[in-house]
Amino acid sequence: MGTLVLEGLSKRYGAATAVDRVDLAVAEGELVALLGPSGCGKTTTLRAVAGFVEPSAGRVLIGGRDVTRLPAHARDTGMVFQSYALFPHMSVAGNVGFGLEMRRVGRAERDARIREALRLVRLDHLADRLPRQLSGGQQQRVALARALVVGPAVFLLDEPLSNLDAKLRQEVGLEIRALQKRLGLTTLMVTHDQDEALAMADRLVVMEHGRVLQVGSAEDLYERPASPFVAGFVGRCNLLPGRVEAPGLFRTEGGGALPCGPAPAGPGILALRPERIALAAGPDGPGVPARLSALTYLGALTEYHLDLGTGALVAVAPTPPPEDPRRRLRPGDPVRAEWTPASARVLPPEAPTGESR
Ligand SMILES: Nc1ncnc2c1ncn2[C@@H]1O[C@H](COP(=O)(O)OP(=O)(O)OP(=O)(O)O)[C@@H](O)[C@H]1O
Ligand SMILES: [Mg+2]
Repeated sequence: MGTLVLEGLSKRYGAATAVDRVDLAVAEGELVALLGPSGCGKTTTLRAVAGFVEPSAGRVLIGGRDVTRLPAHARDTGMVFQSYALFPHMSVAGNVGFGLEMRRVGRAERDARIREALRLVRLDHLADRLPRQLSGGQQQRVALARALVVGPAVFLLDEPLSNLDAKLRQEVGLEIRALQKRLGLTTLMVTHDQDEALAMADRLVVMEHGRVLQVGSAEDLYERPASPFVAGFVGRCNLLPGRVEAPGLFRTEGGGALPCGPAPAGPGILALRPERIALAAGPDGPGVPARLSALTYLGALTEYHLDLGTGALVAVAPTPPPEDPRRRLRPGDPVRAEWTPASARVLPPEAPTGESR
């Protein structure tokens, strides 16, 4: 049973808290991504699961068994490090077979399993090369094979694509996901790239300051963020501080009156996704009157920024410019911005984090 459960997992370094009471359950065969800014505790969480970091508090359970006090090699996890960490003097096959040798797996079985793991990552033809004779993407796949070959109950990936260029990232990312699904691997992956997380994971965990802020599917987090931080971290979002003055009416700090979804009266932050805003030319008609403040020509698309007279600029998702040049908008032009009230969610004001770490 390859379930992974973290219970109140914490790690302190002196007075600083790197991981703060993290609770998380990863189901068998599920891929969960830890997502968050640099220094929020992703790697430390992963290393605590693998057994390379001793938690200050809390428990790690793999397949229902408490492994918190077990050494790394007795935990039944396979980890891929951000930096590959291949042994430079060992061949590809030697690298992949290292964990099996440590586990005293016999020669014949070892060779068979190395071949199988290399076949899975499509590197069987390069078994005798040294790491330095491989491309970055190939080295990344050797690191994957090395973690896979021991048949771990839990697969741990720390930014497995971070050293690859954009095209290769996507390719190797899709490969990892396909392999993970096919083998039904219970996987905890770390990334600080939201696109990567959205594309690969069954569920995402957004972390900040060592804490879990929200757990959910990509759609949950995108459509129903619980806080401005999550709204701004998963996808792009306009965040306007102010207060709900009456049902459906949000007053921004700058004094603008904007339609909003259902929310209790009082202070809040209006979260409005750029692609939910429809832009219309001219001052007259429905919508919130605004002025075009900036315009970025991106070739096929043009991106607009609006001044809603609220003191804050609002981004509108890039759209194709009108074919007729005379109808194209220019900075300073009066426009109107429209959205359905339900797509403007009011979120609780950001709690002061004030905690030193
Ligand atoms: N061995 C250590 N001693 C002291 N502090 C540490 C140690 N390891 C990590 N930290 C601190 O714990 C916090 C979390 O670090 P961690 O490496 O888990 O972050 P991360 O989310 O993986 O960040 P990144 O995206 O930059 O890799 C950071 O503030 C870091 O400085
Ligand atoms: Mg890290």
